Amino acid sequence: MPTINNNFLKLQAGYLFPEIGRRVAEFTKTHPEAEAKIIKMGIGDVTEPLPEACVVAMHKAVDDLSKRGSFHGYGPEQGYAWLREAIVENDYRSRGCDVGADEIFISDGSKCDCANILDILGHDNTIAVTDPVYPVYVDTNVMVGNTGGADEAGRYGGLVYLPVTAENGFTPELPTTPVDIIYLCYPNNPTGSVASKETLKKWVDYANEHGSLILFDAAYEAYITEPGIPRSIYEIPGAREVAIEFRSFSKNAGFTGTRCAFTVVPKGLTGKASDGTGIELHRLWQRRQSTKFNGVSYIVQRGAEAVYSEAGQQQIAGLVSFYLENARIIREALVRTGMTVFGGVSAPYVWIKTPAGQTSWEFFDTLLNDTHIVGTPGSGFGASGEGYLRLSAFNSRENVEEAMQRIGSVLAV
Ligand code: MLT
Repeated sequence: MPTINNNFLKLQAGYLFPEIGRRVAEFTKTHPEAEAKIIKMGIGDVTEPLPEACVVAMHKAVDDLSKRGSFHGYGPEQGYAWLREAIVENDYRSRGCDVGADEIFISDGSKCDCANILDILGHDNTIAVTDPVYPVYVDTNVMVGNTGGADEAGRYGGLVYLPVTAENGFTPELPTTPVDIIYLCYPNNPTGSVASKETLKKWVDYANEHGSLILFDAAYEAYITEPGIPRSIYEIPGAREVAIEFRSFSKNAGFTGTRCAFTVVPKGLTGKASDGTGIELHRLWQRRQSTKFNGVSYIVQRGAEAVYSEAGQQQIAGLVSFYLENARIIREALVRTGMTVFGGVSAPYVWIKTPAGQTSWEFFDTLLNDTHIVGTPGSGFGASGEGYLRLSAFNSRENVEEAMQRIGSVLAV
């Protein structure tokens, strides 16, 4: 019998979203009459069709593959140059960020990249995460053995947790002891907060001063509506020396099922080998990707390229404003019931303070039982998420309006 990776045994419960799915399935087993009425506002999965420009490009790409002259087999592991160039031109150069096409790595998802990046980092780093946090950052560190076991609140030994709550305006304090790696996500999942230039500069300066690496997840940058909020960490001087950035086509162009994302690993960004030598992370990530990854399909990369066409840009702007309007409807309906809400202005997530002192899971149950709405309990994102619940604005307008009508009539506090 093979031995197993015992680190998996340290993990608390299931991964959050399958765990919610399990509880909803249990509920519908005992309440079959409610099944048809359930409105899922838990996982942040898009509902609207792909932008037309992407669909047309993907159809054409299928046709390309049907002819010998335009057929493509394995693509470059780092992604096709035409997509990487389009990304650099539109997402970086236009915002004054110094990022080269050879620093972009196309992938099948930010979640995967946030997890896989640990392949090239040592196991002796001190790692900081915000609390609450996107669970993937924590669980993947547990899986590879970078943490101890969890305490009663679900906090893993060895990690440095930086609370983000209403009390500190959802802005984490800098760590009081030096850390080697910091995960930051802005616009934030789950709290829906954003980071100002000053906040990000504080982190970049901290990282430069302490030789830390920032893993910056910008999967929701398209949702920024507030002026002056950076969309990329590379808008901050000195970030190239300290940060890797993760981006995705999932939330702006609806590629959650189609799968396409990218990671920026600047050349010159280094980590330390055991003999103290500085080694370029770009070189290691390229080596990792070319060994373990065969790239995203030609068809999907052509679809992603079309995001940057004029029509594609208009269509994704339409999608983003559709979900942001959902967020506005959710926020305003909840406020009318007397609840305290955060986020949902520059993010597709609304972060709710649970009413009447309920725990996150109690409020999850109240919502499910009384309104047949599924949210995500804040405590599932970390101990400091206790007392909050997240609603996702990724849904049809009809569902959002129906859900808010139900909440309004049942849950006024
Ligand atoms: C979420 O609901 O937090 C996201 O959908 C998770 C993800 O993008 O992987």
